[in-house]
Amino acid sequence: MSQKERAKFGSKLGMILATAGGAVGLGNVWRFPYMTGQNGGAAFILIYIGCILLLGLPCMISEFIIGRHAASNTARAYTKLSNGTPWKWVGYLGVLTGFLITGYYAVVSGWCLQYGMASVVNHLHGSPEYFKTYFTDFSTNPWKPIVWASIILLITHYIIIHGVRNGIERASKVMMPALFILLLVLVVASCLLPGAERGIEFLLKPDFSKVTKDVFLGALGQSFYSLSIAMGCICTYASYYSRHTKLVNSAVQIGLIDTFVAVLAGLIIFPAAFSVGVNPDSGPSLIFITLPNVFEQAFAGMPILGYVISLAFYLLLSMAALTSLISLHEVSTAFFQEELHISRNRAAMIVTSCCILIGAVCSLSLIGWDALTIAGMSLFDVFDFVTGQIFLPIGGMLTCIFIGWYVPKKIVKDEFTNWGTLKGSVFEIYYFLIRFVCPLAILAIFLHQLGIV
Ligand code: PHE
Repeated sequence: MSQKERAKFGSKLGMILATAGGAVGLGNVWRFPYMTGQNGGAAFILIYIGCILLLGLPCMISEFIIGRHAASNTARAYTKLSNGTPWKWVGYLGVLTGFLITGYYAVVSGWCLQYGMASVVNHLHGSPEYFKTYFTDFSTNPWKPIVWASIILLITHYIIIHGVRNGIERASKVMMPALFILLLVLVVASCLLPGAERGIEFLLKPDFSKVTKDVFLGALGQSFYSLSIAMGCICTYASYYSRHTKLVNSAVQIGLIDTFVAVLAGLIIFPAAFSVGVNPDSGPSLIFITLPNVFEQAFAGMPILGYVISLAFYLLLSMAALTSLISLHEVSTAFFQEELHISRNRAAMIVTSCCILIGAVCSLSLIGWDALTIAGMSLFDVFDFVTGQIFLPIGGMLTCIFIGWYVPKKIVKDEFTNWGTLKGSVFEIYYFLIRFVCPLAILAIFLHQLGIV
């Protein structure tokens, strides 16, 4: 496809909502609130915002620059800017990371959809033990989670084949506002519960004594994951941006939306959990075991409200997961379409089929079959570890070095300032951060995650 006929987002709002939809995902709901509660409440939020501003946004803008400048899929975008040097492999790494994550993210997204359906048919009732067994039985069932992962991948497929404007953009314009409304309804319902103030206080009261080096590095890692850095998603979406899109403004808006959603998720989880005296945790067990139990107890006397809240919550999760899944799917679809010179439908078909396969293998690995276990870890955990803890930091760090030290400064500055419409001094701050501060900070997260520092 020539650059002229390449798809573009149709409106500024659509482009912001689509990119923010890619960033807002399960990480906002199942990790951020817990990290905040454990690591000093508002003190953690302040550090997190600092990480987003000083490190997350510069990395996001770098991916914007690469994607928009090249107007190609992520692998070709890096290739175009690398003039035949091995830097192009960083782009391929981004595509590979996005591709692998699509498969395993689809499994968890499928769980969300299944819980949404279980809420519709009013199955999420019982004792705390019941919820534990319900989740274990479901997630280790050989075929049910595969069916749900396939369903959410097929929905993603359907949206993707309608193209950038009629598929991704249109879906984001419906789902993101719906997600905000559901969030607000849930926050109000949760904060009105008796005893909710203690949850709000736990989440928001700053406690600087809890701030350690680990807290800093944790906030940094979370900010990168939450903004979907180094997965190819940001670069791919930016390849559909117009020349007029102000990259810095857009990054700030997306960062704000992402952080806002994460804080609101905390204002759903903690007030409700404190109201019934349950300790919130993080990860799958929080949203699939702890929260159904919390909702059950908190709304015990109001079954209709309980029904609505549970349904609203899983709908919200499914939509947050779906918009992220779309952004992940698009990375590989654009890659196959442009590299194999095939139609979008065919490229999407390849991605969907492969991801159903990867999803099935990841899901089956949770049953505990030895064949799907590596060094005592299920393939599901291996995918999570390799993509999130190894590929993400390596890809992110190399992208900073690529933009900061290899790509000609003029290209970077022109894209950053929209050919001179933004002040050069802002650019100099960004350039300093991306050359020196970001690569070192990402190196620190990488070593920390591997337990070295
Ligand atoms: N940013 C998403 C979240 O917060 C996770 C994600 C990573 C989504 C990479 C797409 C790509 O959950």
